[in-house]
Amino acid sequence: MKVFTSMTQWQTFRQGIKEHPLGFVPTMGALHQGHLSLVEASRETDLITIASIFVNPRQFDDKRDFDAYPSDYQSDLEMLEAAGVHFVLMPETGQIYADDYRFKVTESEFSHKFCGAHRPGHFDGVLTVVMRLLNLVRPDNAYFGEKDYQQLKLISDMVAAFFVPVNIVACQTIREEDGLAMSSRNRRLDKKSRQLAPELYAAIRNSATADEATEILLEKGFDVDYVEDIADRRLAAVRMGDTRLIDNVKI
Ligand code: PAF
Repeated sequence: MKVFTSMTQWQTFRQGIKEHPLGFVPTMGALHQGHLSLVEASRETDLITIASIFVNPRQFDDKRDFDAYPSDYQSDLEMLEAAGVHFVLMPETGQIYADDYRFKVTESEFSHKFCGAHRPGHFDGVLTVVMRLLNLVRPDNAYFGEKDYQQLKLISDMVAAFFVPVNIVACQTIREEDGLAMSSRNRRLDKKSRQLAPELYAAIRNSATADEATEILLEKGFDVDYVEDIADRRLAAVRMGDTRLIDNVKI
C-alpha cells in the first residue's frame, strides 16, 4: 500500500494508472468495520482500491465537534493495508482548499432539511469535498454507507447533476451486535450513553410512526433533533451530551 500526502505527487501518479475499474472509499479516518465493509465492496468489484483520510473542516458546523473528532492514523493505515487497499490519500487542508473555499457546491433544497436544518453549511462542506476528491481520484466506483442516508442521496444527486462520470455505490449500514449503527462518534460515548444508544435503532425500527418513535426516544432521555419518514425510509438524529447520533431504516 502506498500513502500519498502530496496531492501534486498523487495527480502525477494517477496519470499512470491504466487499470480499471478503480474504486474509491473516502473517509475521515477513525475507521471501523463500517468503513472496512466499503473497502471490501470495492475489493470485490475493482482492480484497484483507493481510500482517502481527510477530516474535512468545512463540514463541521461546530468547532468543538471538529476538535473532538477522533483520529488514529496509525491504526487507520494498518486497517486499510490489511483490507487490501492499494493507495491512500492523506492531504493537508491547504491542498484540498488552496482556494480557501471560495468555490463550493451548494444544494438548495434537500440539504436544508433533516440533518441540514440542524447543521448549517454541513452538506455544502460534504458535497464540496466529495467533488474535489472525486476529481482528484477519478474513480469508476465510489462507495458510501447508507448510514449517512441524506449524504448518500445528496452525493448521488450531485454527480448526476454535474455529469460526474462515477458510479455511486450504496453499502448497507454495519451495526454492533446490539443494533447500534457503527460510527466514529460512538467512541465518544460514555458507558451510560453507550448502553442507551442502541435504543435509537430499536425505536425507529419498531415504531409504527415517526411520532411514536420520537415519543419513545424522548421518554428514554434522548435529545431528539428529528425523526421523519421520507419515501420508504425513516431517518433520525439524536443527541447524547455532545455526541450526535444518526440512523435510518427502511420502512
Ligand atoms: O461520510 C464521511 O465520512 C464524510 O462525510 C466524507 C464522505 C468522507 C466526506 O468528508
